[in-house]
Amino acid sequence: MAELEFIHVNKVYGTDTTAVRDLSLHVGEGEFVVLVGPSGCGKTTALRMVAGLEEISEGTIRIGDRVVNNVSPKDRDIAMVFQTYALYPHKSVYENLAFGLRMRKVSKAEQRRRVEEIARKLGLADMLQRRPAQLSGGQRQRVAMGRAIVREPKAFLMDEPLSNLDAKLRVQMRAEIARIQQALKVTTLYVTHDQVEAMTMGDRVAVMRDGVLQQVDTPQRLYDAPGNLFVASFVGSPPMNLFEATVEHDGSRLVFGDARLELPADVVSERPGLRAYAGRHVAVGIRPEEVREASGWDGARVRGRVLLIEALGAEQLVHIEIAATPLERADLVDAVAADPGPSLGVEDLERSVTLLGRFDRPSSSRRAKRSRWRSTRECCTSSISRPASRCRRWTFPSPPESWGSDASRSRGSACRRDTRSRRRRGG
Ligand SMILES: Nc1ncnc2c1ncn2[C@@H]1O[C@H](COP(=O)(O)OP(=O)(O)OP(=O)(O)O)[C@@H](O)[C@H]1O
Ligand SMILES: [Mg+2]
Repeated sequence: MAELEFIHVNKVYGTDTTAVRDLSLHVGEGEFVVLVGPSGCGKTTALRMVAGLEEISEGTIRIGDRVVNNVSPKDRDIAMVFQTYALYPHKSVYENLAFGLRMRKVSKAEQRRRVEEIARKLGLADMLQRRPAQLSGGQRQRVAMGRAIVREPKAFLMDEPLSNLDAKLRVQMRAEIARIQQALKVTTLYVTHDQVEAMTMGDRVAVMRDGVLQQVDTPQRLYDAPGNLFVASFVGSPPMNLFEATVEHDGSRLVFGDARLELPADVVSERPGLRAYAGRHVAVGIRPEEVREASGWDGARVRGRVLLIEALGAEQLVHIEIAATPLERADLVDAVAADPGPSLGVEDLERSVTLLGRFDRPSSSRRAKRSRWRSTRECCTSSISRPASRCRRWTFPSPPESWGSDASRSRGSACRRDTRSRRRRGG
């Protein structure tokens, strides 16, 4: 077992496709780190560079104490599990598991001992004589894992190993892989584009976008304190509701649409940076699970109209239209380098945003069921002026995640930059 480290690693394909930019990431010994991000953000490239299957354009990759930039793949002593299991179809499960050991000239007796042990751990002991075609997808996936594990490599690299499985098996295998990794304590770098997989499996999660590492932290910290708008919108399912608001009153009030949210005193004191944004536009993020029905609540409220209720059994997803200016997600930019710049004064209160609320139980929002089949698109493009009987009030008992604390100062500027670019495009 060993630690892995990327030190300022760049990868350029050809002359102009930069797949990975200045990646620095450390995976501790025995740690399970998940690399997550949208398609094309450079995850596979990063993994392949560790495996030695892709040359590094710049920087250093270390496995244990050794810099491996110029070490051939077979001498790196790591095992890779791919999306396609690439089992030998004409070999039995036993032979598939033993193949790597045979190549390394491990004695027959030792091969048998290790294969039988891993087959027991993975629940494959009764299937050692079967061919891959006689196995289910999940069993094949376990053979691929077993083949990697049995070699006792310094580290595992896994590239979307679950993406070929159906949803139920995926959930099972997710837990299985996490369990095996914990039992064996093998350093693991796991790639996925599925943020739920990332959040449930990783000790730490590294979020990438366009070849750039955005944030690395424990799943909980990523959820609680996203470092920029991209991470805020990427982490969490359903994703965080994001829209624009104006900061008023020395940072203690958020204004959007016809809503004036007085922020609780503790929120204001926790985020002294908000003062600096008075009179300016910021991005507000509210997690769906923080939206509550306002009956019995005498704090800040927002008025909205229920467009759709999706019943998921134990919980409901409620789509609520509120008056606010949307943030254009395609424009979400990394905020780090942004200069705060002047306030923009976009006062387009006619626009509306569909807020997602996640409710534990079938609440009185049932009453709004008649609007269930209304087209979301139609509602999203219309304004908030509705008959009062159709409107309900919604509230956010937890502090809205407004940008503006010292740590998140740059997020507000990202929002402004978004707005600026949209305006430039005449949006
Ligand atoms: N061999 C190659 N030659 C040129 N460009 C490549 C090559 N391999 C990957 N790329 C480009 O590098 C970028 C990163 O690709 P990569 O396969 O690492 O993405 P990914 O994050 O694994 O995406 P996915 O989730 O779709 O698998 C993409 O823009 C891709 O088009
Ligand atoms: Mg990939």
